[in-house]
Amino acid sequence: MLWMSALYATSSSRLYCELMNNPGSPRPGFPHRHLLGIEGLSRDEIAYLLERAEGYVDQNRRADKKKSVLNGRTIINLFFEVSTRTRTSFELAAKRLGADVINMSTSTSSIKKGETLLDTAATLNAMHPDVLVVRHSASGAVSLLSQKVNCAVVNAGDGSHEHPTQALLDALTIRRRLGRLEGLLVAICGDVAHSRVARSNIHLLSTMGARVRLVAPRTLIPSGIDRMGVEVFTDMAAGLKDCDIVMMLRLQTERMHANFFPSVREYFRFFGLDYDKLANARHDALIMHPGPMNRGVEIDSEVADDYGRSVIREQVEMGVAVRMACLEALANNLPDSAEGNL
Ligand code: NCD
Repeated sequence: MLWMSALYATSSSRLYCELMNNPGSPRPGFPHRHLLGIEGLSRDEIAYLLERAEGYVDQNRRADKKKSVLNGRTIINLFFEVSTRTRTSFELAAKRLGADVINMSTSTSSIKKGETLLDTAATLNAMHPDVLVVRHSASGAVSLLSQKVNCAVVNAGDGSHEHPTQALLDALTIRRRLGRLEGLLVAICGDVAHSRVARSNIHLLSTMGARVRLVAPRTLIPSGIDRMGVEVFTDMAAGLKDCDIVMMLRLQTERMHANFFPSVREYFRFFGLDYDKLANARHDALIMHPGPMNRGVEIDSEVADDYGRSVIREQVEMGVAVRMACLEALANNLPDSAEGNL
């Protein structure tokens, strides 16, 4: 399955090549030119981004939220898929660090007039942006685009492949609540087959020493997924047993080209998170959802709003801090002058 393809693996040799080709001198901490996925990042690199993000959480709660780290830098948000929180979050993150931000979506770009993704990328590249933040419906599209531009590229979600900043913000949320990631038991539940959030989280949580369980109907579990070192369950009661974290996923019907479950009612009955199923997890288990959530489909409304345990709003808050940390880390590796661009 495409989902499992090694094609997208950011192997260490590839990272080494990225470093060698980068005209700037990547600094220790996060020595990469792009952030295309969690796969291939080391424990230290993930920890570095989380540490930097931690500092921005406090700053974002102050009246004066601005820093000048990205003064003079231009960031373009290029979204070929709909988005509320991710695009807004990247925009806020960039602005709070002092960058100039341009937002582009498919509906307002020349893609509508038939331009290819790579031509759009080349056009934008000619205007010397420093960072392109890209979301695309095709797995691998963001990586391809990153090979055609001189600036840094952040993957804001590519098909069902990866969504690295979502996994980082989830990790920051968990770490702030529970003080650690190592040793935790995390159940990722629902539409795993179409989820880039699941894939990035599996990479991040395993790298940081957490144990990951996937809980879903058999039709929504990609074949061979157990090779990623996860345990697979098709029953919520068994899968949630003694978990520290229950991470729900949206049913991503926009990516479904067949019927994967009989009806939404039946799906909610067997896989929707309600208090009965949640009772199997630890009594203080945290409830997470990347949003946008479908109340009464993958999660019961009352459970979603149970703010003692549901950290869904905190996840959104941590998103801005994490994206600030990522933009800062990539900007640190940019060459100081645009010489050689083009
Ligand atoms: C996720 C995404 O786009 O992959 N949403 C998000 O970024 N907040 C999850 C989803 O759409 O279900």
